[in-house]
Amino acid sequence: MTEKADIKYLLEPRTVAVIGASHSPDKIGYKLVENIISTGFAGSVYPINPQGGELLGKKVYSRISEVPDEIDLVCICIPAKTVLPAIKECALKSVKFLAVITSGFSEVGNIEEERKMVELARENGMRILGPNIFGIFSACARLNATFGPRDILPGNVAIITQSGALGIAMIGKTALERIGLSAMVSVGNKADIDESDLLEYLVKDKNTRIIMVYLEGVKDGQRFISALKLTAKKKPVVLIKSGRSKRGALAAASHTGSLAGADDIFDAIIRQCGVLRAENLGCAFNWIRFLAQAPLPQGENTAIITNGGGIGVMATDACEKYKVNLYDDLEGLRETFSKYTPAFGSLKNPVDLTGQAKASDYSSALNSALKNPDIHSTISLYCETAMFDYENLVPMIEQTQKDYLNQKKPLVFAVFGGAKTEQAISSLREKGIPVFPEVYDAVSCLGALYAHSRHLRAEEEFLEPYSIELNRIEQLIYEVRNDRRSFLLAHEAKKLAEIAGIPAPATLVARNLDQAIKFAEQIGYPVVMKIVSRDIIHKSDVGGVALNLLNRSEVIDAYEAILQNCRSIQPDAKIEGVEISEMLQPGVELIIGARKDKIFGPVMAFGSGGKYVEVIKDVSFRALPVGKKEMMAMIEETRAYTLLLGVRGEEKKDLDKVLEVMQRLSELIIRCPEISDIEVNPLVVYEYGKGAKALDIRVLLTNPEGGVK
Ligand code: COA
Repeated sequence: MTEKADIKYLLEPRTVAVIGASHSPDKIGYKLVENIISTGFAGSVYPINPQGGELLGKKVYSRISEVPDEIDLVCICIPAKTVLPAIKECALKSVKFLAVITSGFSEVGNIEEERKMVELARENGMRILGPNIFGIFSACARLNATFGPRDILPGNVAIITQSGALGIAMIGKTALERIGLSAMVSVGNKADIDESDLLEYLVKDKNTRIIMVYLEGVKDGQRFISALKLTAKKKPVVLIKSGRSKRGALAAASHTGSLAGADDIFDAIIRQCGVLRAENLGCAFNWIRFLAQAPLPQGENTAIITNGGGIGVMATDACEKYKVNLYDDLEGLRETFSKYTPAFGSLKNPVDLTGQAKASDYSSALNSALKNPDIHSTISLYCETAMFDYENLVPMIEQTQKDYLNQKKPLVFAVFGGAKTEQAISSLREKGIPVFPEVYDAVSCLGALYAHSRHLRAEEEFLEPYSIELNRIEQLIYEVRNDRRSFLLAHEAKKLAEIAGIPAPATLVARNLDQAIKFAEQIGYPVVMKIVSRDIIHKSDVGGVALNLLNRSEVIDAYEAILQNCRSIQPDAKIEGVEISEMLQPGVELIIGARKDKIFGPVMAFGSGGKYVEVIKDVSFRALPVGKKEMMAMIEETRAYTLLLGVRGEEKKDLDKVLEVMQRLSELIIRCPEISDIEVNPLVVYEYGKGAKALDIRVLLTNPEGGVK
């Protein structure tokens, strides 16, 4: 395979050819050439069409081989069946990038043709964008190689979109909202170039301040995670993903899998990467409009300034929802705002200037907040009142916005009212000033900014790994493989846990009654007895389990009863013995699972465990590896956390032990290529210092070829 072309030449090509440059103005090939020329592309444009002639003042070449120049980017807009031969010609010409606009490939089942295109391109050092795309826009190259709208406002927002139609519509929407674009790339079927390639370029692109990604699915999850992690540490990434399907979950073999809707894992992972996930397009556009210009806050304290109590309370609620922290230094609030607040107003946060406030009162209060170094961001709310000097609303917002930008402090406005207020919103938006008619929208923008800024400040954590005797685990797995199984029996799983340092109840397998009595006495009463047979899956259903056996005579009775029950209900089952184990005292029951996800690689689930685990569905997920802080965040996201803290006078539970089990499971899944799933359910957790015990452990192996489900 030849070396890959540098992605820079996709977004900053020096020369562009259009194969399928049509002479008919109603065809895509014509529109593309027209857009490229009219945007003032600085490089050379070469229309290609067998008819030759001239198009929009440019000489038309009948074949790409005739072009007297090296070509960085070729846009292809000819029917599907003619694309592969055209790519062959491009290969002879040593083209770098192919943007295949044409539809009719994998999206309609024509997978083979698409595969051939990619193979041919890769063999010749070319890369393919698409197929099935509307094109590419790059502000720095002044290149509009799309068949979308001609005029695209240049700016600092880059958009990557998997949906073509939505992408074209987004161009229109950004123009309307005065959101300038640095790039807009349609990735279509992502046969070769995908969002990860583009993020690698955009993270370094000095013209791009914020990146929005619209996704329908991810092919190479692990690469995507790395690209997102790198990018979100530098620039805000706003992501919208459609298709919250649960189908993937149905195929999963373990709880860890079935607890995770396909979207749950995706959602957890992208948040872990520091990505801001927008619920819908409206929210995404609000965020990018705000984030494209907002400075990063220098601290966590936010002041709300309002002329209405109700709207102020709503903003307070929204702050809690979007994790915006309110400034609560009463003395500081008084010093900052008392001069501008009437006696019947409020000097608590939200600061209520009352319904009689004029534009000048807002200006003064906002300026005072700006000057207070302990206030790091401001939310300003305005309810239309008859007392307000409306003509000063727009200038006041414009001026304070400017002052805040100059001082690098974030400010967000929500204004609510009738026709006059709506007019003010439109006129401010025309000027590119983000103002919102809905309080929650305004606060969610500030919340997104804070989430990004906290992510920038968060330090990467590296955990010292535990020492685990991997060779003993390999030996255990070798024996399981020899037995032609891809799962571990209960006692094997317990042995694996023991090697990995995961505490489990003391367990021994008795082959006869004497051993059963001996082992029970060795372990200490009370004990639990369970049939050991690979043929009996649901042990309690056949009377193969006895709990809380308090003494020797109960052990004798239970041993005989278990064997008799199993033999009479399942006479063909091969019985290997009876397991005697320590009877655990009740504690908080958790589930901790780690598995290799087909798309995202190793992932971990944490949540409330026990037999109702799938009904309760109280779980959080992360891609592995994770540090202690992130594990703690996983725990805090679940209701199980409250139980671990202790309710109704209970003692706090042993969180350190829980974290240790999480880390050990994470290491097992990462360091043992043969394990595909490992799950502890329940992990019974006791009070601080008293540890935790893995009552049940399930271990599944990868299929012999190394694949995972
Ligand atoms: N090299 C150069 N030009 C060629 C060519 C070749 N190998 N083969 C054909 N052409 C010329 C044709 O002569 C024609 O020019 P003309 O109009 O001057 O005669 C032009 O290329 C276009 O070919 P045509 O056969 O008319 O195709 P079309 O314009 O009707 O359709 C596509 C081509 C690519 C637009 C169409 O196949 C398609 O895929 N449409 C969907 C695109 C889409 O929606 N993409 C996803 C968006 S999200």
